Amino acid sequence: MSLQELKQDLKATLAHQYESIELNSLMSMLIEFIMGWDQIKQVLNKDTDLAQEKIDEFQKALKSLKEGMPIQYIIGKAWFMGQEYAVNENVLIPRPETEELVDWIIEYATIINKPLQILDIGTGSGCIPIALKLALPNCMLAGLDISETALATATQNANNLNASVSWMQEDILSTTYLPNTFDIIVSNPPYIPFKENVNMQVQVKNFEPGIALFVKDEDPLIFYRTIARLGKQYLNPNGQLFFEMHYDQGKSLLALFDEMGYHVELRQDMFGKDRMLRASLKRAV
Ligand SMILES: C[S@@+](CC[C@H](N)C(=O)[O-])C[C@H]1O[C@@H](n2cnc3c(N)ncnc32)[C@H](O)[C@@H]1O
Repeated sequence: MSLQELKQDLKATLAHQYESIELNSLMSMLIEFIMGWDQIKQVLNKDTDLAQEKIDEFQKALKSLKEGMPIQYIIGKAWFMGQEYAVNENVLIPRPETEELVDWIIEYATIINKPLQILDIGTGSGCIPIALKLALPNCMLAGLDISETALATATQNANNLNASVSWMQEDILSTTYLPNTFDIIVSNPPYIPFKENVNMQVQVKNFEPGIALFVKDEDPLIFYRTIARLGKQYLNPNGQLFFEMHYDQGKSLLALFDEMGYHVELRQDMFGKDRMLRASLKRAV
């Protein structure tokens, strides 16, 4: 079987699951992963006959894709702010909206223009502190997560990308102590109420770690309230909290942060939805 024939097979099988543009890029990523061929080699080798073991690998990947496994988990990598990150079932796949949050922090830190202490809570793959360290090499970065396996992936990513970040394993909902104070605390915490599970894409709800996604229906803002409380003790003067958030939690979060003594600014993502917020203690201004 040639590459061309195999591609037609794969496309026909997945056509009802993916848009055509998405399907082409998915095929290309899969071929690069299995054959090690970049785009040019894929064109040059389109009539090459594939070894049976490679065809078997494609069939295995196809089965996983049909079940809804995201391509990033199949190839074991994802891209964030132009860099490649290792991902696996223990970590959330980094999202474009999180890149917008990181851009906002870089914009802020660039204006402040001094070495800042920055903590990322719920670090997952480590994409936030690693991207910040690469963009702001004079800042001190730390990442915290409850999950040991997520932290192992974050450490691997920091090593691969030569970013010096320190890591802590903590349950932020029960910790009362942080080993430092910070100029910026950032978090993209779990924020999807369990009850929304039914409307979610199979790719997300069946494959991404539940601990990274979901929060109790009775208290969907628990991570924000907890971090706002810790911020009062662990933010340096003029310190800032930055968060990613559920698009329909803007109003509740404005009220929560205001009530807890913070000034709040909301920002929209590229689709115009409330997606990020920055908060600073009123007394610090
Ligand atoms: C939405 S993911 C964000 C991952 C990564 N920061 C990103 O933006 O791609 C939330 C992360 O919070 C972590 N987490 C969940 N509950 C936690 C807790 N109680 N304490 C600390 N981290 C927690 C999860 O393991 C997960 O890595």
